Amino acid sequence: MDVIAIDDPTDAQLREWHDVLTVAHAVGPAGDPAPDPGLTARHLLAGEDGSRRRLWAVVDGDRLAGVAAVRLPGEPGAGRPGEVDIQVRPALRRRGLGGRLLAAAAEGLRADGRTSVISQVLAGTPAVPFLESHGFECVLTLRGMVLRMDDVPAERLAWLLADGPAGYRLVRWRGVVPDEHAAALARAKHAMADFAEYEGKPWDAHLVRETEEVVAERGDDLYTVAALCGDVVAGFTEVVVPHGAAGRAAQYDTAVVPEHRGRRVGIWMKAAMLRWLADARPEIREIETDNAGDNAHMLAVNEELGFRVERESREYLADVAALPTR
Ligand SMILES: CC(C)(COP(=O)(O)OP(=O)(O)OC[C@H]1O[C@@H](n2cnc3c(N)ncnc32)[C@H](O)[C@@H]1OP(=O)(O)O)[C@@H](O)C(=O)NCCC(=O)NCCS
Repeated sequence: MDVIAIDDPTDAQLREWHDVLTVAHAVGPAGDPAPDPGLTARHLLAGEDGSRRRLWAVVDGDRLAGVAAVRLPGEPGAGRPGEVDIQVRPALRRRGLGGRLLAAAAEGLRADGRTSVISQVLAGTPAVPFLESHGFECVLTLRGMVLRMDDVPAERLAWLLADGPAGYRLVRWRGVVPDEHAAALARAKHAMADFAEYEGKPWDAHLVRETEEVVAERGDDLYTVAALCGDVVAGFTEVVVPHGAAGRAAQYDTAVVPEHRGRRVGIWMKAAMLRWLADARPEIREIETDNAGDNAHMLAVNEELGFRVERESREYLADVAALPTR
């Protein structure tokens, strides 16, 4: 079986590629979304977000035994890491095919001037020992947590709400922030420079509205609860109910401005959000959220509310120079 580069995939190769993803998905962790043939083809044929893609496969007659895709963001060179994803048919694993695909991908990364490469995988899958055996190190863990609304007794919510910190009051809105709170919300986002997504962005009322309008344009519903101290937004929590959601809403950002931390503002706002959703959207059965594994405070708040870890995804990083060669 040879490893070949696929520069311009044929329809037959796209079908085979999708078949590899489908059989790999069938033995993968439960709950992972099934691959979609249209999406597979779009991913392989076009780069996204200003990135380019390079593809390799192990061919076995006219079948593909395993595949490797590398995403190359931005310009060639050492500036940003490439991203690799390798999938081998379950029946053909542990025969060195994954390692050979990784060597081919490493060659492509070197040719593009990349010095590092990342890979996003789920904990507890063969990807972990595979990457670790090739010198990758875990640099980030993300805990996917889920809260089942039925697991939160109404009395507990009532108690958390009554236990709010002195000197603060809650406000809430659906959709784009009302004018009276727009500037204060922008100041809160600005104050959270320690929050990776907010760092360095010129937050003002206009940018806040624009970001929220994107959610509305997708047809999704944004719910926000904010804690005010006087006219200052001390913190906020956002939940999005996706258009056509099958009972699952997504937690977006929750943040408390540094000088208002440590007073249970976070759990108070989140309890108010749960009560609001239970009343306004009774069809929502679950809320999902992703937390960085090192964000101890947010994990503690979520665990106290009843969120349970459903899956852990990890980001692995390696020096391209340390990867195998062909
Ligand atoms: C991860 C994956 C690509 C590995 O493919 P593979 O062809 O089985 O890998 P190799 O045979 O080259 O394995 C190389 C080494 O990785 C390690 N390894 C791979 N799978 C392993 C497993 N299930 N358990 C323990 N170690 C494993 C071993 O050290 C192995 O060497 P060995 O067989 O001599 O002990 C394959 O399991 C797969 O397709 N998984 C699902 C997709 C996925 O998660 N991809 C993300 C990875 S970028």
